[in-house]
Amino acid sequence: MSGLQGKRILFGITGSIAAYKAAFWVRELVKEEALVNIIMTSGAEEFISPLTFTALCGNPVHLDMFASDPDGVMAHINLSRDADLLLIAPATAQTMAKLATGMADNLLATAVLAAKIPVVICPAMNTAMYTHQASQDNRARLLELGYHLVAPGCGDLACGETGDGRLCEWEDAREAMLQVLTPQDLAGRKVLITAGPTREALDPVRYLSNRSSGKMGYAVARAARRRGAEVTLVSGPVSLSPPSGVELVSVTSAQDMADAVLSRAEQMDVIVKSAAVADFKPDNCASLKIKKGSGGLRLDLVKNIDILASLGQKKKKGQLLIGFAAESHNHLDEGQRKLTQKNLDMIVVNDILGAQTGFDVETNQVTLITPSQHQQLPLLSKTETAHRIWDAVVALDKGM
Ligand code: CTP
Repeated sequence: MSGLQGKRILFGITGSIAAYKAAFWVRELVKEEALVNIIMTSGAEEFISPLTFTALCGNPVHLDMFASDPDGVMAHINLSRDADLLLIAPATAQTMAKLATGMADNLLATAVLAAKIPVVICPAMNTAMYTHQASQDNRARLLELGYHLVAPGCGDLACGETGDGRLCEWEDAREAMLQVLTPQDLAGRKVLITAGPTREALDPVRYLSNRSSGKMGYAVARAARRRGAEVTLVSGPVSLSPPSGVELVSVTSAQDMADAVLSRAEQMDVIVKSAAVADFKPDNCASLKIKKGSGGLRLDLVKNIDILASLGQKKKKGQLLIGFAAESHNHLDEGQRKLTQKNLDMIVVNDILGAQTGFDVETNQVTLITPSQHQQLPLLSKTETAHRIWDAVVALDKGM
C-alpha cells in the first residue's frame, strides 16, 4: 500500500495547544483523498473551533456523546465501525490516562473503548508532564492494550520550555498509520539497504560522483520499514530526510560504504544494493587543492571494491541479495550478466535514459530478473515500485 487514499480515518482531537496543528493534518489527509471524520473533546474546542475542521474535511464534527444519531445507532459505536483507523492527535496527558484505565466519560474515550480498529495515539504535552512516572506508566499500559504510540518530538514547547513533548511531525504520524494498515510480511526480518551516490575525493575541494538522488533506495527502505522490517539504511550524500524508524548510516566514499555494509552483512536477512557506487576513484587524493596551472589535467583512476560482488561471494545460507542495474542499453542482457556474476537472487534493472525512469524523478519502470524468470513492471511511483520489489522478495523468501 503506498498511501492513505480511500482510507477512512476517525480523527480524535483533544485539548492541547497543538490542536491547531491538527488542522494542517486534516488538510494533508483530505489532499491525499483519505475520508476523514472528526471527534473533538471539549478541551480541544477551547483551542480551536469545530467550524475550522468542518470546513477542512467537509463533514460535521462530532462533539457530544449524547447527540442523537440520524441512523438511530449510537454515535460512539457507529463512528469507529465505519472507520479503518482511529488517530488521536494531539493526545493530552488526561486523554492518555483515561484510555489507559478504560474510562469512557466523553465521546472520544467511548469511541476508543468501542473501537475494533487500530488506534494510533500522538501525545503532546509539557516535558515534565510527559516524563512524569504517571504518564510513562500510562504510556506503557496503552502499549500493552495494543494501541500504537508515536513518540513526541523534542524541541521548543508552547510553554516556553524545551524538551520531549512536542506533537510529532505529520510525516511520522502518517508513516505510523501506514505501517498499522500494511500487512507486516517483513516482520522480524533484518534488512540492509544502500542508497544514493558515493563521492571519491580528488583533493580537499573536489570529488568524482554521479547523478543518483537516492530516491529509489529511500523508497525501498521506507517500504521495508512499513512492512515491519528492522531497517538499516547505508546512504551516500543525498538531500533526503531518512524514513522514520530506520537506522541511518551516512557514508561518503565507496570504501566507507563497503566498510559499513560488509561489517553488518552477516546479521542481515536481506540486502538490497540500490546505491550508485562509483566504479573508480582517483589513485591519489591530493592533500592540497590542485592548482589550475597552465596545461590540462590527467587523472589516474583505480577501481573501487565491488561491494555487491563481495557480498555475493560471502552470502550466507538463507540470505537474499538484491542488486540494481541502471542501464542505458542491452538492459536484459546486462541485468542477467550481473545477476550471475555477482551471485544475486534478484536484480532490478532500469533504463536511465527514459524521461520518467532516469535520475531524480518520482517515477520508475523496472524489470525484476531472478535466475528463473523476468517480470517487467509498469511505470509506477518509486514508492509503488519499492513495494512491488518487496512483493517479489517476499515471494522469493517463501520459495527458499
Ligand atoms: N555495485 C557495488 N559496488 C560497486 C559497483 C556496483 O556494490 N563498486 C553494485 C550497485 O550498488 C548495484 C550493482 O552493483 O546494485 C550494479 O551496479 P552497476 O553500476 O549497474 O554495475 P557495475 O557492476 O558497476 O557494472 P557496469 O559499470 O559495467 O555496468
